[in-house]
Amino acid sequence: MAQVSLKNVTKIFPGNIKAVDSINLGVENKEFTVLVGPSGCGKSTTLRMIAGLEDVTKGDIYLANKRINDIPAKDRDIAMVFQNYALYPHMTIYDNMAFGLKLRHYPRSEIKRRVQEAAEILGIKHLLERRPRELSGGERQRVAVGRAIVRKPLVFLFDEPLSNLDAKLRVQMRTEIHKLHIRLQTTMIYVTHDQTEAMTMGERIAILKDGLLQQVDEPIAVYDHPKNKFVAGFIGSPPMNFMTGKIIKKDGRFYFNEGRIEVKLVEDMYEKMSSYLDKEVIFGIRSEDIYDKLFISEAPPENIVRVNCEVVEPMGSEVYLHLNTGNHTFIARVGAHDQPKVNQDLEVVFDMSKVHFFDKHTEETIV
Ligand SMILES: Nc1ncnc2c1ncn2[C@@H]1O[C@H](COP(=O)(O)OP(=O)(O)OP(=O)(O)O)[C@@H](O)[C@H]1O
Ligand SMILES: [Mg+2]
Repeated sequence: MAQVSLKNVTKIFPGNIKAVDSINLGVENKEFTVLVGPSGCGKSTTLRMIAGLEDVTKGDIYLANKRINDIPAKDRDIAMVFQNYALYPHMTIYDNMAFGLKLRHYPRSEIKRRVQEAAEILGIKHLLERRPRELSGGERQRVAVGRAIVRKPLVFLFDEPLSNLDAKLRVQMRTEIHKLHIRLQTTMIYVTHDQTEAMTMGERIAILKDGLLQQVDEPIAVYDHPKNKFVAGFIGSPPMNFMTGKIIKKDGRFYFNEGRIEVKLVEDMYEKMSSYLDKEVIFGIRSEDIYDKLFISEAPPENIVRVNCEVVEPMGSEVYLHLNTGNHTFIARVGAHDQPKVNQDLEVVFDMSKVHFFDKHTEETIV
């Protein structure tokens, strides 16, 4: 069993730089958890503390229920794959993969068996006699993963392993790491700043901002129920649209008034929104929850808004419409057949059952 657990883990670098701020995170045995967040939010520092490459300032880290704060990195049974691969240039691929095992005095035959097995899994058997400079970026990446696999660790840590690869190879390697996890059935913690990688790879994702953990949940739960405006805007592409405006009440019904446009709330939201009556809030709607009225047979009139179409971006399978209310710009994602004229007014429909509201001051989700 190899669950990893972080209890109030804090890292303060000299100069009082708080890189990680009291993080609590549990990663189950065999789980694939993704740590995601913008540059500088503390992802690598968290991973390096788990690996033992960085001291923990405060808090505890447990591996399989054993506190590992004071165990040196080499004795932790955790393997880490780095962003820059960190291969030894003068060694062959075989020796690069064998190196960690040699250091640990494994018998030659066992080393050979493990390297061959890892090379087989990763499809790099034909490269074993070459040196790193004779490999493509994608191949080097595989070697870096291979070097971790041969150790058969309890936990794999990946720090942005795909960021040096081109877009196409990244998608391919994403799938391969996914398959590798299914095959090896090992606990994995994967760091990225790419929300698409997080959404597609993670069984659970943990979102970090400024050293603080914002939310930990399954990808779809984070997508549908973001805890605050930061998470709502970070997860999803294009990002969620935000508009500020007021909640008002007319004839017993609640509306969101943005100044130029007004839409009616669904009744399920009334209770939670009642303390925000006549106050400013932040309204959030995802681009796929906005429809061109032309293609909707029966749109509720109070959810239809008139906006200006500024840019039409055909993406092939869909079209992004850049729209403007006069106060806010936002993006709608519509079908490939929908090609409205630019610089003309357009009626779009908001699916009000899918929208979110955030407190203007705390930016926490209201509903
Ligand atoms: N050795 C160090 N000394 C001082 N500050 C550091 C050190 N290492 C990292 N930091 C700071 O800690 C914060 C978190 O850094 P970290 O490398 O963990 O970020 P990250 O989330 O991995 O970012 P990126 O996506 O850019 O890799 C940053 O503000 C960084 O400047
Ligand atoms: Mg980093």
